[in-house]
Amino acid sequence: MTNVVLWAIIIFLIVVIIVLFIDFKRRREDRKQKFLFSSWPIKKVPIEEFDPSFKTGTLGPDHSTEIKFIATYRVTGGISDFESWILCNIAKRSNKIFEFGTCTGKTTYLLAANAPKDKETEIVTITLSPTEMDAYKDTAGDDSAAVDAAMQESVFTKFYYSETPEAKQIKQLFGDTKDFDEEPHKGLYDLIFVDASHAKSYVESDSRKAISMLKPGGYVFWHDYRGPRRAIGVFEALNELSNEMPLIHISGTSLVAYRKP
Ligand SMILES: C[S@@+](CC[C@H](N)C(=O)[O-])C[C@H]1O[C@@H](n2cnc3c(N)ncnc32)[C@H](O)[C@@H]1O
Repeated sequence: MTNVVLWAIIIFLIVVIIVLFIDFKRRREDRKQKFLFSSWPIKKVPIEEFDPSFKTGTLGPDHSTEIKFIATYRVTGGISDFESWILCNIAKRSNKIFEFGTCTGKTTYLLAANAPKDKETEIVTITLSPTEMDAYKDTAGDDSAAVDAAMQESVFTKFYYSETPEAKQIKQLFGDTKDFDEEPHKGLYDLIFVDASHAKSYVESDSRKAISMLKPGGYVFWHDYRGPRRAIGVFEALNELSNEMPLIHISGTSLVAYRKP
């Protein structure tokens, strides 16, 4: 065998090993995101199946789904552009909106910018301010990464909507969501977005409150349903909740949705 042939075989084998290694890593990542060798418990559904107003034609989404929009580019804790489009379209027919977890206030702003410009329209949003960290109450079993993230994101006192015309429709609450008294808010809201602490005990508490605050026909959306390796508290709390009520996971997003009958 000549040297040239020998080198060709060696190079070929190296390339094969590299390709196999990359494929192995990709499959391992996929496996990690599986839930005990099966799909995630909450069924994945395309958005147009959940809500027919999102139906598409041969050219894509209908013009009726146009929204006022700002891209999620270098936004702390933000949601994806596709997720914004979904929430803002629901906001277009929602007078009363509540958000658990304000962060930069970009989603708050977009919800307000797309909501009807009626006198009764109101977007209420709650967040932990930088001076209230002591109010945070983690429970045994809460994921420490979720607790750390809650602390790191609780740094804003000025928001994306501040000093915009939308600010007059927005009511900013500060405080720990476990201390938030939902009693006066029961049955009031068309749209609720749950995106505050991702620790399991918080997702459970915020979800119970959110569901009690819905009007008949109202929607709750949760963010960060990302499988058993990321935001595990959201994954576990929503999987358990799905045994009690019909939840769906919207394809191509980390949103889980519920519509109250
Ligand atoms: C992921 S960010 C929210 C992102 C925002 N919804 C958006 O779409 O841009 C989480 C927010 O929840 C707030 N937060 C975390 N733990 C909280 C708690 N225990 N009570 C109230 N707010 C909390 C954080 O301060 C942060 O503003």
